Amino acid sequence: MKKLYIQTLGCAMNVRDSEHIIAELGQKEDYQLTQDINEADLIIINTCSVREKPVSKLFSELGSFKLKKKPGAKIGVAGCTASHLGKEIIKRAPYVDFVLGARNVSKITQVVHKKHAVEIDTNYDESTYVFGDYRSNPYKAYINISIGCDKKCTFCIVPVTRGEEISIPSRLIIQEVKKAVESGAKEVTLLGQNVNNYGRRFSAQEEGAKNFTELLQEVSKVKGLERIRFTSPHPLHMDDEFLHEFATNSKICKQIHVPLQSGSTRILKEMKRGYSKEWFLNRCEKIRALVPDVAISTDIIVGFPGESEEDFLETMDVVEKVRFDTIFSFKYSPRPHTPAASYANQVPSEVASKRLQILQERHKQIQLEQMQKQVGKVVKVYFEELKSGGQVAGRADDGRLVYAKGSEELLGKIVDVKVTKAYLTKLEGEVV
Ligand code: SAH
Ligand code: F3S
Repeated sequence: MKKLYIQTLGCAMNVRDSEHIIAELGQKEDYQLTQDINEADLIIINTCSVREKPVSKLFSELGSFKLKKKPGAKIGVAGCTASHLGKEIIKRAPYVDFVLGARNVSKITQVVHKKHAVEIDTNYDESTYVFGDYRSNPYKAYINISIGCDKKCTFCIVPVTRGEEISIPSRLIIQEVKKAVESGAKEVTLLGQNVNNYGRRFSAQEEGAKNFTELLQEVSKVKGLERIRFTSPHPLHMDDEFLHEFATNSKICKQIHVPLQSGSTRILKEMKRGYSKEWFLNRCEKIRALVPDVAISTDIIVGFPGESEEDFLETMDVVEKVRFDTIFSFKYSPRPHTPAASYANQVPSEVASKRLQILQERHKQIQLEQMQKQVGKVVKVYFEELKSGGQVAGRADDGRLVYAKGSEELLGKIVDVKVTKAYLTKLEGEVV
């Protein structure tokens, strides 16, 4: 058996793509996963290009792979940076053996045999390809429901690297959910760049559920499945029908990601997000009214070209009003092939850094207050990991990390836990 070492950067879709690579190479090419890079016959890095940092990390990682690899071992670059740099990667690092773009994952068993293969067709349709089975977590499964993104947010490189949006037929999604449940998973996370735009377009002669709400209804009928999560939805497509399903379907976990990006309607327009500050606030108010115990997370970019102090204060106003449970916050990073990168009014880096700091400091206070509100509640925790000191950890229905005293018997079970203590990123409790 040959050994495969794989490093994954970026989002949940990349994690899933890596699982597909491991499955295909394991079942068709006799590769076995290793954590030890020195013994690997094949080293793959699955890259992210959404901000500049992970791209520069790629080349430093490649340099270290070259030094560590055993003689004759191959190196492959997969993912979003593979898509947008393509042949450039082999030019800059000639010891790289192949480049495999996002949405070309099913070609992995071909590229491993071709020296300097570059497969980066962003129109490639693998929406009906059935990958081999592998998942890194026995208790939960990630399941793709769509590929690519048709939105053209002016800051975002994803439509360039992952191509046009195409939905996976719901019969294949249901088949994957059933397989996951049969092999022990009680929870699935449905994945896509824009999940609630599901049903926009299918491969030739294929069809599926007519929209995301209908897909959620179909998935929730799978026997043995207890929890459904999804990421990421777009605020624009959060219609009342969807929010009603979210609130009333007992299998859907009460955690939702509502990516804001900016609280200024003017900047949202420049970003081509398609909604206003008022629409965003209205959706969040509605979610909190329908589901009082919900946890809301978001993504925020500071320092988008032309962002003034007033625009930033609009973002802070939304932070105060919604009181997000989690915020993923980023300094705007100009990306190649995106309109915003060539806007003349770029915000100075120090100004953006200062805003990021203000946002993060305020959010930390809110986050702790939100966590402290959990103390005394009884929450349902799906335990999945053994921790040191006789503890087990898992996620509450709303996605919060919970630790409790316990042993292996609790793993894979959904159990009531009374929360006794809150920290910034985790809760402690007692099994009741
Ligand atoms: N639809 C996807 C978006 C993928 S990018 C999703 O919601 O997961 C993930 C996040 O990265 C975006 O929501 C945005 O906040 C951030 N991001 C994207 N492009 C960026 C850029 N050029 N600079 C800084 N942050 C960016
Ligand atoms: Fe990117 Fe906007 Fe799509 S953030 S992934 S272009 S919804």
